[in-house]
Amino acid sequence: MNHTYAVVTGASSGLGKALAEELGKRGYGLLLVALPGTGLADQATILSEKYNIPVQIIEADLINPETPHEIQKYVSKLNLTVGILINNVGIGYGGEIGDYTDAAIRESIMLNVSCTTLMINKFIRELKQREKAYILNIGSFGGFLPMPYKSIYSATKSYIYYFSLAIRQELRGTNVSVSVAMPGPILTNNKVRERVRTQGFISKSNLIDADKAASYILDRMFRRKGVIIPRWSIRAGYLIASCIPYRILLAVLGKLFKGVN
Ligand SMILES: NC(=O)c1ccc[n+]([C@@H]2O[C@H](COP(=O)([O-])OP(=O)(O)OC[C@H]3O[C@@H](n4cnc5c(N)ncnc54)[C@H](OP(=O)(O)O)[C@@H]3O)[C@@H](O)[C@H]2O)c1
Repeated sequence: MNHTYAVVTGASSGLGKALAEELGKRGYGLLLVALPGTGLADQATILSEKYNIPVQIIEADLINPETPHEIQKYVSKLNLTVGILINNVGIGYGGEIGDYTDAAIRESIMLNVSCTTLMINKFIRELKQREKAYILNIGSFGGFLPMPYKSIYSATKSYIYYFSLAIRQELRGTNVSVSVAMPGPILTNNKVRERVRTQGFISKSNLIDADKAASYILDRMFRRKGVIIPRWSIRAGYLIASCIPYRILLAVLGKLFKGVN
């Protein structure tokens, strides 16, 4: 069977793992990318047997600017038909400016901004050859707002948002659809669990499970939606936030995120 493959970055845990599972369920072949030693090989065997799909893996550090090129070379070598590119990998450090380590800044910009941009630039020709193709970039609700104490994270996710909308327009009328997901908190790892615990009710009531988020996001990606925001409370929050003067909004966000990592 000639499978169309989905490339998923950061596929070994969290939202990336849930997106890979959901795509497998829908019968797509998978090319999963994550760091070495994250159980990717076992995950591939499980998905392949469960859904009767081909699953390839690449264990590599996506901070390295050469990695997108290596992924593209691998796809060409194996002659895989890629029809879906999901730029999921991302990191979300928090803190006060001046306190970030150089490594945290580099990681944020390389994973959230550079990797996504390089992957699309490398794969767009391949995607244009398909009858229908999809690019999905994972932003964050934080990308809609300047967030004190999450300043680098929110700025990188703003980049993802605007970059996605701009290339969506460039590709309008072609076979390639570009979507950007801007989710609120997703229950993916202990860091999120801890953040939700310290932020209390607001954060808790907006939380969504990774598998629910993945299914919601993919349904809309296949419907070629531009901006995807899981959970009605997050969509309502976006509308409310856009009516509040920036000065007040920044003060509230500053209180909410101060001291949260
Ligand atoms: N969770 C949320 O509340 C939330 C909300 C909004 C948006 N998002 C966005 O959703 C995306 C996924 O978030 P998540 O919460 O699922 O994150 P996560 O649980 O930390 O998972 C991130 C994935 O990326 C992989 N990864 C990390 N650094 C890597 C590197 N240098 N090279 C290759 N792979 C690497 C991780 O591998 P390991 O298994 O080795 O860690 C893991 O598979 C991110 O873009 C994030 O900003 C998350």
